Amino acid sequence: MNDTEVFAAAALLRGSKRTVVLTGAGISAESGIPTFRGEDGLWNRFRAEDLATLAAFQKDPALVWGWYDWRRGLISKVDPNPAHKVLARWETQLPGLSIVTQNIDGLHQKAGSKSVIELHGNIWKVRCTKEGTVSANNETRFEEIPPRCPTCGAVLRPHVVWFGEPLEMAVLELAGRLSTMCEVMVVVGTSALVHPAASLPLAALEGGARLVEINPDITPLTHLAHLSLRGRAGDILPLIEDRLGIEPLEDRQR
Ligand code: OAD
Repeated sequence: MNDTEVFAAAALLRGSKRTVVLTGAGISAESGIPTFRGEDGLWNRFRAEDLATLAAFQKDPALVWGWYDWRRGLISKVDPNPAHKVLARWETQLPGLSIVTQNIDGLHQKAGSKSVIELHGNIWKVRCTKEGTVSANNETRFEEIPPRCPTCGAVLRPHVVWFGEPLEMAVLELAGRLSTMCEVMVVVGTSALVHPAASLPLAALEGGARLVEINPDITPLTHLAHLSLRGRAGDILPLIEDRLGIEPLEDRQR
């Protein structure tokens, strides 16, 4: 990654009226949340089939909840990093910017982002397995595992998308529409291996968007990207922000 690439990314963003930022686990890595793939990835230590499928949950809800309870404990202790914060500022500074995330950690919202499209749900929400009702739940750690619905007593499940489950239709449609219509898509910290999320950059390209990738590693998207900025999100996004030359909102309001 060199200064010319940073400058070029800033120029693309400055000129765009509709921008989608697609994020993955890599954007939260610098906050201390492990990614899924790679050397220290969760899927190197745990089997997804045992912990992130409906079949696993039906077989042993306490085991699955134990894993989610542990992750909730981990996430509750960390803060958004500079990458999340830059994106939160851009939401108020760049016209038509949407964040579409595969992450369930809620760190975009904790950084101040208001409109975040969560493709894979949110670890701070629970769903009744009987009634289907979704509610916010910030308990860390649960007194009883598996937790139960306060209304009907049925077992609750994490309101997340597991392997083999479809994404919520309205969410996927919205993300697809925004991707097809955007002028610039910035893809941050995803291995781009899990579909349908990984199809969104392809939809953006088909729609004529410029694609910018920010990732320390090569992904299946790298050769398709107009700009590939190799490095950590928490380093690169602030550099792009500097180059954008947009005054912080609080300065503009003075
Ligand atoms: P992965 O763990 O597959 O990929 C993380 C990506 O982040 C890799 O490409 C890393 O190179 C990159 N990365 C690591 N540190 C970074 C940093 N500091 N800055 C920028 N990039 C960095 O995570 P996802 O692509 O998000 O789904 O995984 C997609 C889905 O697979 C997840 O949502 C989850 C998982 O199984 C479900 O659970 C349904």
